[in-house]
Amino acid sequence: MKKKPNPRRPRGSASSSRTKRKKLTDRLYLVVIAAAVVVGVVGWLQWFDDDHAGHEAGDVALTIPAFTAEAEAGQALFEENCVTCHGAHATGSDQGPPLVHRIYEPNHHGDMSFQLAVKNGVRAHHWKFGNMAPVDGVSPEDVIKITRYVRELQKANGIF
Ligand code: HEC
Repeated sequence: MKKKPNPRRPRGSASSSRTKRKKLTDRLYLVVIAAAVVVGVVGWLQWFDDDHAGHEAGDVALTIPAFTAEAEAGQALFEENCVTCHGAHATGSDQGPPLVHRIYEPNHHGDMSFQLAVKNGVRAHHWKFGNMAPVDGVSPEDVIKITRYVRELQKANGIF
C-alpha cells in the first residue's frame, strides 16, 4: 500500500522545525553538562594533587615582611626548634615541608594544628618526609609566637 503523506504534518512545517530546535537544545544541554563534568573532574584532580599527593619541598621565592615583636620572638624560637626540618623562614628543607605553603593556610591548618603538631607530633599525611616527632621544651606560649611568625610570612607571601 502506498503511504500517503500525513496531511497534518507536512514536511518543513512549523511543528517539525520545532522538534529540530528541541533536539538542538537537548544537545546543547549535553555539551554544557559534559563541560561542567570535565571542569569539575580537572578541578578535583588539581585539588587532590595540591593537597594530598606526595610533594617535594620546592624553591620558594620569599618576601620577608617587617615582623611584629611577637613574630620576631617566634622567629628566634622557630630557628631554635623547627628550622632543621622546616627550613629557613619555613620554606622547607630535605627533612620537612615548607609551612609557608597553601596547605598550611589558616583555614586549612588553624593555629591549633601548630599546638597539636608540637605537642603530639604529626603522622605523615601530606608529604613524604615521614612523621614529625613531638618537640620537647616548647611551651604553648612559644608555639603561639612561632605560629604568629609563620602566619606573618604566609600573609606577606599571599598564602592568605
Ligand atoms: C624532625 C623534623 C621536624 C621538626 C624538628 C619539626 N617538624 Fe613540623 N613537621 C615535620 C614533618 C616531616 C611534617 C609533615 C608531616 C606530613 O604531613 O607529611 C611536619 C608538619 C608540621 C605541621 C603541620 C601539621 C599538620 O596538622 O599537618 C606543623 C604545624 C608543624 N610541623 C610545625 C612545627 C613546629 C612549630 C616545629 C618547631 C617547634 C616543628 N614543626 C618542628 C617535621 C618536623
